[in-house]
Amino acid sequence: MFVLYVVDHPLIKHKLTIMRKKETGPKEFRELLREITLLITYEATRHIPVYELEVETPLEKTKGYYINDKDIVVIPILRAGLGMVDGILELLPNASVGHIGIYRDPETLKAVDYYFKTPKLHDKSEIFILDPMLATGVSAIDAITKVKELGGKQITFISLISSPEGVKAIEKAHPDVDIYTASLDRELNDHGYILPGLGDAGDRLFRTK
Ligand code: URA
Repeated sequence: MFVLYVVDHPLIKHKLTIMRKKETGPKEFRELLREITLLITYEATRHIPVYELEVETPLEKTKGYYINDKDIVVIPILRAGLGMVDGILELLPNASVGHIGIYRDPETLKAVDYYFKTPKLHDKSEIFILDPMLATGVSAIDAITKVKELGGKQITFISLISSPEGVKAIEKAHPDVDIYTASLDRELNDHGYILPGLGDAGDRLFRTK
């Protein structure tokens, strides 16, 4: 069953508000995106399986629990998704990282793929696709479709800000994929930007405007 999980912890709300401010510069913007991604990851990984292995404390043996971090695959959608990689890897340092290059044609708003490289995917892979702005959902749906074609089954989408239109589009195309986000904003404008949003996440991360 499709789940939209808005992780609206006070720390996340506070940090996201600073990111939205138009005066916030790239250094702070990058740091905050990394921190919020780490905080969302804490919630977005609740479902991942643990296996038991005995551990010996200085006093006695007891049950221990580990995650199989070899099965975790993090896939940022280029380019803004790159700003989320360090935050998730801080909690999952042994995860593999794939990359998907998709841009939205500004005329047609359709997805155009230009790069795709991921580690081997299988039905046990725990896949986290990252894009800070879930706007029209076109790139997200395209990325999820490709990941499924390569054998991915357990897929979670993590965004910073989502639009109702993007969420609906993913729910329709991929109802088996859960979305974790810090905010569900009001709407998209005619250019596919999220309102109130924070502007162009890629430009703000990489100072390209
Ligand atoms: N991509 C962005 O960077 N910002 C938006 O508002 C929508 C898509």
